[in-house]
Amino acid sequence: MLNANFLVTGAHGFIGAWVVKRLLAEGHNVTIFDLNSNPQRLRQIMSDDEIAQAKVIEADITDGNAVTQAVEQNDINHIIHLAGVQVPVCRANPRLGAMINVVGTVNVFEAAKNSDGQIQRIVYASSAAVFGEPEDGNPVSENQSGRMTTHYGAFKQCNEDNARVYFLDNGISSVGLRPLTVYGPGRDFGMTSDPTKAMKAAVVGRSFHIRFGGETDFLFAADCADAFIRSATTELSGAHVFNLHGETVRVSAVVEEIEKLIPSAKGLITVAEDGIKMPSALDDSAIVAALGGVPHTSLAQGVKETIERFQLLKNENRLDTADLDQ
Ligand SMILES: NC(=O)c1ccc[n+]([C@@H]2O[C@H](COP(=O)([O-])OP(=O)(O)OC[C@H]3O[C@@H](n4cnc5c(N)ncnc54)[C@H](O)[C@@H]3O)[C@@H](O)[C@H]2O)c1
Repeated sequence: MLNANFLVTGAHGFIGAWVVKRLLAEGHNVTIFDLNSNPQRLRQIMSDDEIAQAKVIEADITDGNAVTQAVEQNDINHIIHLAGVQVPVCRANPRLGAMINVVGTVNVFEAAKNSDGQIQRIVYASSAAVFGEPEDGNPVSENQSGRMTTHYGAFKQCNEDNARVYFLDNGISSVGLRPLTVYGPGRDFGMTSDPTKAMKAAVVGRSFHIRFGGETDFLFAADCADAFIRSATTELSGAHVFNLHGETVRVSAVVEEIEKLIPSAKGLITVAEDGIKMPSALDDSAIVAALGGVPHTSLAQGVKETIERFQLLKNENRLDTADLDQ
């Protein structure tokens, strides 16, 4: 599918940068919609020439007219919606969180509604935060959501429900994807960014404490981006919600991978006892069945690629370590 025109909201964020990289590599036209005009996460994984291929609109997702105009003026026919704020912001300011995460998502669906059928499907980021506290160690399937413990999770669930109503009322198809702990170059904010920060700390020889332990579902950023793009370019009708799954391991297993690659980091990285209040494994059989398979980079390979990228940035004096102090 060449010459598709993609609007990627939140594309100056972590997952967005990976989505943009892979869309451009596949030859698509990309319009970035983000409140933040700084392409620093794109720069960590792409050359300036590659970045220059994408158009940038600096605007607020809570501004419905700005979203509709972005679609109309750029002949958009695909939307990947990632703009949003994470758990700490939603906890500190639920009103702002609801405006950005819920109203912002409604604005994206309204823009599709106003597009005279040009936008057939929206792919948007939901989250494993819709699941709340784990019941047992078994992988959870899509229909086990509920009992979430954060406003962030409640807002994501609300988006999934709104998406279903937009299909019933307006025939707009959608795919909501639920990642859990995404890692890789560019991950620098939120509690589950700690394993990626530990990789960076090891590269610069610093100590680092990962604020959660136990097991979690680690998904490499490139695989996450591919799932978004495949969902956007596959003919799926209806309002779908899919779990994403990478590799479920103990957080301490990531530390072991880091120490294998950087033996001098032994003892520098510590891990908290308590796990995060989310299931440790997501069952992704539904998306595998719908899309005919999704890429699964092993944890060992993902950690290796992340560390190699950080080492390259360090050698070029471009490794930003400000996130290690947050
Ligand atoms: N990273 C993960 O592990 C993870 C897991 C589950 C779900 N998600 C979801 O995936 C999406 C992307 O996550 P991420 O890790 O890339 O987040 P991120 O914080 O790195 O990126 C979010 C982007 O949204 C932009 N944004 C925020 N408010 C905006 C507004 N009002 N208008 C326009 N743009 C705005 C930010 O500037 C940022 O570039 C989010 O919706 C997030 O909730 C992420």
